[in-house]
Amino acid sequence: MMKSIVLHQYNRNVLRALLSLKVEHIERNVPDADEVVIKVHAAPANPSDIAFIQGSYNVVKTLPVVPGFEGSGTVVEAGTELVNLLGKKVSFFAQNDGHGSWSEYITLKKGDLIQLRDNMDMDQAACFAINPFTAFGLFNIAIKRSSSAVIVNAAGGQVPAFIRNLAAQHKVEVINIVRNTETAKRLVEAGEKYVLNETDEEFERVLHELARQLDATVAFDAVGGAHSGMLFNAMPPDSELVVYGGLSNKPITDISVMELIFRDKLISGFNLSSWRQELDQDKFEHISYLLQEQFIKGAWKTRIQRMIALDEVVNGLKSYLGNMSDGKVLFKPSSDEV
Ligand SMILES: NC(=O)c1ccc[n+]([C@@H]2O[C@H](COP(=O)([O-])OP(=O)(O)OC[C@H]3O[C@@H](n4cnc5c(N)ncnc54)[C@H](OP(=O)(O)O)[C@@H]3O)[C@@H](O)[C@H]2O)c1
Repeated sequence: MMKSIVLHQYNRNVLRALLSLKVEHIERNVPDADEVVIKVHAAPANPSDIAFIQGSYNVVKTLPVVPGFEGSGTVVEAGTELVNLLGKKVSFFAQNDGHGSWSEYITLKKGDLIQLRDNMDMDQAACFAINPFTAFGLFNIAIKRSSSAVIVNAAGGQVPAFIRNLAAQHKVEVINIVRNTETAKRLVEAGEKYVLNETDEEFERVLHELARQLDATVAFDAVGGAHSGMLFNAMPPDSELVVYGGLSNKPITDISVMELIFRDKLISGFNLSSWRQELDQDKFEHISYLLQEQFIKGAWKTRIQRMIALDEVVNGLKSYLGNMSDGKVLFKPSSDEV
């Protein structure tokens, strides 16, 4: 048996969705020949997990099910084809139809695993499989376009933080958009030159001027709704709005038809799983090696606001939802480690 957080009912109302999460002891799978069982060290809550429990994400599973799309841990059991993985430390990203990572154990296939280098911190490794690769894949779009500047919204979040790391490496300017003064202050104190608060009266005019002045030809949009249209219209000619998240839960609106037709602008979508599938294994492992290097050096770091035991699920997720910019909430299934 294993202790897990179990989702019994999807609910668009996030508080009701949280209340349908129960801590239970459920049966632990015996691995098939091509599977391993991982003892979970830690697993974060990401916006995709929140959308999942609301039933509004791209992945919908048969209920009841354990949520959680990523984490870190150690391989403690292996099917006959994977015995060489026993004892290995791994990060993992799994969106298949089985149980997820908010649990003491998870059963996965080899393709879901990322082998970790020595000295990789296991809490950081819990948040390694999704956001760092997403930022890497997104930023490649700016590299291909030879952009001298990019725009990020929801800039207090973790994907934008990693985009800023890559931008600094490539000497690309970043226009950061946030929605509250505390996050704006934190970014300015961290040395960001361009931080705009979308609640300011002059925000739209300033964004328009700055985007054109810096020639910000790529915007990474995690918000959607009318915000996407506003971003798109503010960007200079021959630019691209890359939508990778829908934090507003609203359809994209307010795109100027004139800007779309006469300014050679483009709107595209980015999805980590599709990007990953286009890479061969050697290339993926090379990128993983380089990204892990950044974490081992301490140059990249996921902000973690709180470590919680599985029993604290409701309060822990409420505190994440109350201030996502403060960092991830990390489940520690062995509660003595919290
Ligand atoms: N397409 C892909 O493959 C892919 C991969 C990874 C992540 N994502 C998406 O990327 C987005 C960001 O993820 P993350 O891990 O960076 O998030 P995160 O670290 O948990 O932070 C979320 C950030 O978004 C802000 N935010 C939340 N709702 C907002 C809204 N309605 N308008 C403006 N800002 C809002 C929060 O600000 P406050 O503190 O003010 O709430 C916070 O700064 C999510 O939508 C996630 O699903 C997509």
